Amino acid sequence: MGKQEGSAVAGIFWSQSPVVAITSAWDGKINGQIAVTVVTSSVVHTIPRLIVGIWKGNYTHEFIYNSKKLCIHLLRRDQLELVKNFGFYTGRERKKFKDIAYETDVTGCPILLDCHSYVECEVINAMDGGDMTPFLVSVVNGGVKSSEQWLTLDYFYNYAPPQWIEEYSHKLSKSVEASLQCIHNIDYKSWQPDKDSG
Ligand SMILES: Cc1cc2nc3c(=O)[nH]c(=O)nc-3n(C[C@H](O)[C@H](O)[C@H](O)COP(=O)(O)O)c2cc1C
Repeated sequence: MGKQEGSAVAGIFWSQSPVVAITSAWDGKINGQIAVTVVTSSVVHTIPRLIVGIWKGNYTHEFIYNSKKLCIHLLRRDQLELVKNFGFYTGRERKKFKDIAYETDVTGCPILLDCHSYVECEVINAMDGGDMTPFLVSVVNGGVKSSEQWLTLDYFYNYAPPQWIEEYSHKLSKSVEASLQCIHNIDYKSWQPDKDSG
């Protein structure tokens, strides 16, 4: 018992989570990132909702915060390269869609043509998490392209080349450093989408 064991249990929610690619469109631009922080949050089958945790420092955060639209893609296990493309670099420095085929539909967010499955979503609420924002999103469209098993974080860590894991660990330790500066600075006022969009 104790916080260390609690931390190990909390880790299960990381390692067993699907690795998803999240895209968004805003101000005539598109961007995308990788995340493992998507969970279901509705018991009403006809009103599907998810909660999506996005770190504030990510360029994609700006897109989702301002457009209130995003597309979440489950990936196939053979799509490790896509994780590197969207998850190792920032769209502030690189055009991530250079070699990526996509289309648009209901939200205007890029829908990756090559993926396991996808849902297009609209943000209906959010709260401040200090270093990150958990967005409550409503699913407005979706599609399934594969019946195979989707990619999880565990699978990524076990099957990505060791030098990728090293590169990602380095990036992650920098993110942890940045998070530690603001993780407890939580603004408890409720989210006001229209007034708050700066
Ligand atoms: C395996 C993996 C899991 C990740 N999980 C998350 C996550 O849950 N939430 C998040 O905001 N960023 C997560 N990231 C980090 C972002 O994908 C990464 O910082 C990305 O470069 C941000 O790109 P952007 O600045 O263009 O938005 C993850 C990255 C990888 C490779």
